[in-house]
Amino acid sequence: MNPPRTIALRGGRIVDATGERSGDVLLEDGEIVQVGPDLSGDETLDASGAIVAPGFVDLHAHLRQPGKEEAETIESGSRAAALGGYTAVLAMPNTTPPIDTAAVVREVLELGRGSLVDVHTSGAITVGRAGEQLAPMAEMASLGVRVFTDDGTGVQDDRLMRRALEYASGLGVTLAQHCEVTSLSEGTCMHEGYWSSKLGLPGQPAEAEELMVMRDIALARMTGARIHFQHLSTAGSVAMVQGARSAGLQVTSEAAPHHFTLTDECCADYDPTFKVHPPLRTTEDVAAICSGLAEGWIDAIATDHAPHTPESKELPFDQAPPGMLGLEYALALAFTELVDGGHMSETEVIAAMSWKPAAIGGFESHGRPVSEGEPANLVVVDPSQRWRIDAGGGASRSRNVPYVGREVRGKVRHTIVGGRPVVINGEAQQ
Ligand code: DOR
Repeated sequence: MNPPRTIALRGGRIVDATGERSGDVLLEDGEIVQVGPDLSGDETLDASGAIVAPGFVDLHAHLRQPGKEEAETIESGSRAAALGGYTAVLAMPNTTPPIDTAAVVREVLELGRGSLVDVHTSGAITVGRAGEQLAPMAEMASLGVRVFTDDGTGVQDDRLMRRALEYASGLGVTLAQHCEVTSLSEGTCMHEGYWSSKLGLPGQPAEAEELMVMRDIALARMTGARIHFQHLSTAGSVAMVQGARSAGLQVTSEAAPHHFTLTDECCADYDPTFKVHPPLRTTEDVAAICSGLAEGWIDAIATDHAPHTPESKELPFDQAPPGMLGLEYALALAFTELVDGGHMSETEVIAAMSWKPAAIGGFESHGRPVSEGEPANLVVVDPSQRWRIDAGGGASRSRNVPYVGREVRGKVRHTIVGGRPVVINGEAQQ
């Protein structure tokens, strides 16, 4: 059967970087060809009562390929992304082998080609993510890599980080940092505070993150380079980013849904589902992340989708790997916690999930306005649909969902990637 030539999204409220309006959207050959009232096409997708926006862009997804296919594949992670309203994702490089050479970049891009969403990859800053020697960033950049990070760990060596920033600046790419000083975090498994003392678990102080944020702001000032802070989790980090931005430095940042939703008290039953790096923090930190997002010091919501097999998450808390799923829950958690919590508008949440991360990651065909001639990478969200998160784990191969049982608002109805509906009425089309 031939695919429909034209698709009309009918009856929606359009939300993009240029503002809000109602209108139908007509798609043809991967592009938006018309926006206006009463449009019809060979196929119609119902957008009544829904928001039509540029698709979401996740700057932080662990897709686990190559090497950990039992936990996730690029195919299964992409399906989860599509169901979550994402049209593009940025894969993290802590795979086996790590994504630190042109050959592995090529492999990941090749694996991503048949996926439901656009798969971009980051490259490691250092060889083997070992923090000792710069990786061949120029070679990876020549294949289209725009973001480099050693995610899973931060670059510990000050001099090497300075060189990486200078090098990145010359290449016109962005360095993204997982801020964690390992001399303070080694051997720890949750936030250091009341709950770690009560539970008898080794705690990681907020300063493990904040010292690296502080150093990297100093290095960004020194080199004039851009830096992006990944998954910020503490009030102190948000305050420093605010200071750096106010001083005119090119600093951007992201926060993950779990850091504006959950606190360290969630670890009280020693359930490793709640183990994550950086760790769940205090109520005050959660409040600071919410206001950081509301005030725009934190630019983007990024999932840090980190699948782990059920067997590995059944290990004792201190031995289990850190990480939790996020791709299918981010939008609903943001609407429920941030919009209904009175911090942000729906449009601000969509900005933090779409055009703002697209700009940071250099995703040129995503996050674009919903207007004629633009690529048809779109999401249709039903903001009024309420649902309960279950233990299924959705499309992911893993099941480490920390939100089970939670009532949330906001559901992705359709996702369109390159003009192709990859999710229709909440169902993935593959
Ligand atoms: O919790 C985390 N899990 N934090 C990271 O930085 C890495 C990630 C993973 O790869 O599982």
